[in-house]
Amino acid sequence: MLETPIILNKQKIKNRVMKAAMSEALGSREHAPTEKLITLYRTWAHGGAGLLITGNVMVSAKALGEPGNVVVEDERHLDLLKTWASASKENGARCWMQINHPGKQVFKGVVNEAVAPSEVPFSKDLQRFFPKARALTEQEIITIAEKFGETARIARKAGFDGIQIHGAHGYLISQFLSPKHNIRQDQWGGSLENRSRFLFTVLNCVREAAGTDFPVSVKLNAADFLKGGFSMEDSLTVVKKLAGAGVDLVEVSGGTYENPEMTGLSHQSSKREAYFLSFAESVKRELPNLPLAVTGGFRTRAGMEEALSSRAADMIGMARPLAVYPDLPLKLFKRNVDGVTMDRKKTGIPFIDQKAMLELAWYSLQLERIGKGKAALPQMSARKALVKAVIKNGTEVFKKRRS
Ligand SMILES: Cc1cc2nc3c(=O)[nH]c(=O)nc-3n(C[C@H](O)[C@H](O)[C@H](O)COP(=O)(O)O)c2cc1C
Repeated sequence: MLETPIILNKQKIKNRVMKAAMSEALGSREHAPTEKLITLYRTWAHGGAGLLITGNVMVSAKALGEPGNVVVEDERHLDLLKTWASASKENGARCWMQINHPGKQVFKGVVNEAVAPSEVPFSKDLQRFFPKARALTEQEIITIAEKFGETARIARKAGFDGIQIHGAHGYLISQFLSPKHNIRQDQWGGSLENRSRFLFTVLNCVREAAGTDFPVSVKLNAADFLKGGFSMEDSLTVVKKLAGAGVDLVEVSGGTYENPEMTGLSHQSSKREAYFLSFAESVKRELPNLPLAVTGGFRTRAGMEEALSSRAADMIGMARPLAVYPDLPLKLFKRNVDGVTMDRKKTGIPFIDQKAMLELAWYSLQLERIGKGKAALPQMSARKALVKAVIKNGTEVFKKRRS
């Protein structure tokens, strides 16, 4: 099953393993792909996964999520993008570029101004990480959607095989979808129809700019898992609309920085390996023909095979295991291993350990090692990752507030 090919928008993917997006933070100061990024993707391409989704590429240099993001807003880095795409496609792998605008989920000091659907602040404990945001004007909303289209057009020209629109994890599209973070009174807020208008405007722009024969996926939260946030009911309605709009692959994830369920925060006690399988099952009950990727928690071949054979998922999304074991898919296919265990990273400092940032920092360091041509270091201590992240990103975001 895991090795069975799948066709998405006439494109053959050689097996069911999808490397899920991981922000590599390996872009140059000019936000271009670097040698390290290219080496990392060549390594993954040879590691056996059929589909590689890139880490989020930003559609505007004015809206970086974090330092080191690659930005594609014009063709100035086209040659390097071509090299990146071609390294990612070695060994018959396919590579789709994930494109994103972070909205207000940008680390302090990274951008001059954060923008969002509305001026709703994050929860108190996150305000030390993310700045206050200004609400977008209608014209700005349309301009950003068009930027998604332009990035997709360039991705195709550079040789990427498809696009993934990042609609999950609390970034701009997810902020629009959330009734907690989007309190606009115009056509972009209020009803779910209005809150999802931005997602569908982006999708139309991408289709128009890149062509309907270019595969497009959307990564969507099963829910935000926040009181008053984007609910499972909302999500199911949006997935139905995405299916109606002919999206080629929906990837299910969940959570935001406010409640990082995508890292499995509250999942430890569950018997099921993957975090969002029951939501995937409810999608499949209503939309059996919609190609669905499920990401979060997959660690064993048995868990993956079960999700595929029960038809809850068509693709198995994996992120953190492939940051440490980039050739895990090959090893699973050859039955050299049955799976991996991934411990939650902990420093012993509760305020740090309950957030997603430490996990991201630890895994980013592993990506950087692979990009340098070294092996990952599974035994790297979480405290070391914290120290390195503080040095890289500055102390401000990790400082504990007195009040
Ligand atoms: C270092 C790191 C960076 C990530 N960056 C992204 C990203 O750019 N876009 C995205 O959709 N998800 C991102 N994620 C989330 C993963 O795609 C995935 O949803 C999550 O890690 C759960 O899957 P896993 O249990 O297989 O790791 C990131 C995760 C990690 C660890």
